[in-house]
Amino acid sequence: MNNTKGIIFDLDGVIVDTAKFHYLAWRKMANDLGFDITLEQNEQLKGVSRVHSLQQILGWGNKTVTEEEFERLMASKNEDYLARIAHMDDSDLLPGVKKVLDYLTKNDISFALGSASRNARPILKGLKIETRFKGIVDGNDVTKAKPNPEVFLIAAEKLGIASEDCIVFEDSVAGVEAANRAGMISIGIGDKNILKDADYNFADFTEINIEFVQKIVRK
Ligand code: BG6
Ligand code: MG
Repeated sequence: MNNTKGIIFDLDGVIVDTAKFHYLAWRKMANDLGFDITLEQNEQLKGVSRVHSLQQILGWGNKTVTEEEFERLMASKNEDYLARIAHMDDSDLLPGVKKVLDYLTKNDISFALGSASRNARPILKGLKIETRFKGIVDGNDVTKAKPNPEVFLIAAEKLGIASEDCIVFEDSVAGVEAANRAGMISIGIGDKNILKDADYNFADFTEINIEFVQKIVRK
């Protein structure tokens, strides 16, 4: 089908329920440093790269660390995070996601991944959906993190579809802003009061029916 738009999915908190594990791992690190991070603060970390997340968190805790310590904290947070998601398989796809991916695959509608995570590829492999994406763009492929639109612009290139014909599913404020700045249609997955700049809002994929997908992908 070449008369359709292209779809770009964020990963964490959209396809798979890893967002809570990022939070738990950052929170454990903060607790070890003697402070806490709230769920509200965590909203500002969603979609944000590992480096920027740590900078932000250390700022909240009024902590200054050496470059070496910064690297150590990032590595140990990632180790903790990976341990928490180690046993992930295709049963960990968020509810309703499989139905949409199956529809897109069956109807030859291309989709790509646009994620800030440097762990995206192994996660997609674990979920057994890696080969279904026409393009995968993750934290290893970009120089500018969300809310910069770079990740989605590269994903559109991989799809071979103009930016204005791409639709982005995102659960983060930074990601919705990146999609909007890329000139794409943004669909917020989560709290609509938080993702208020999205073009469409859904609490999760169970709220998205195939008629809606058919409507938005039509050129
Ligand atoms: C984003 C998450 O998808 O990826 C953030 O929303 C995370 O919470 C970022 O910090 C980077 O992920 P990773 O896996 O490279 O540490
Ligand atoms: Mg996300």
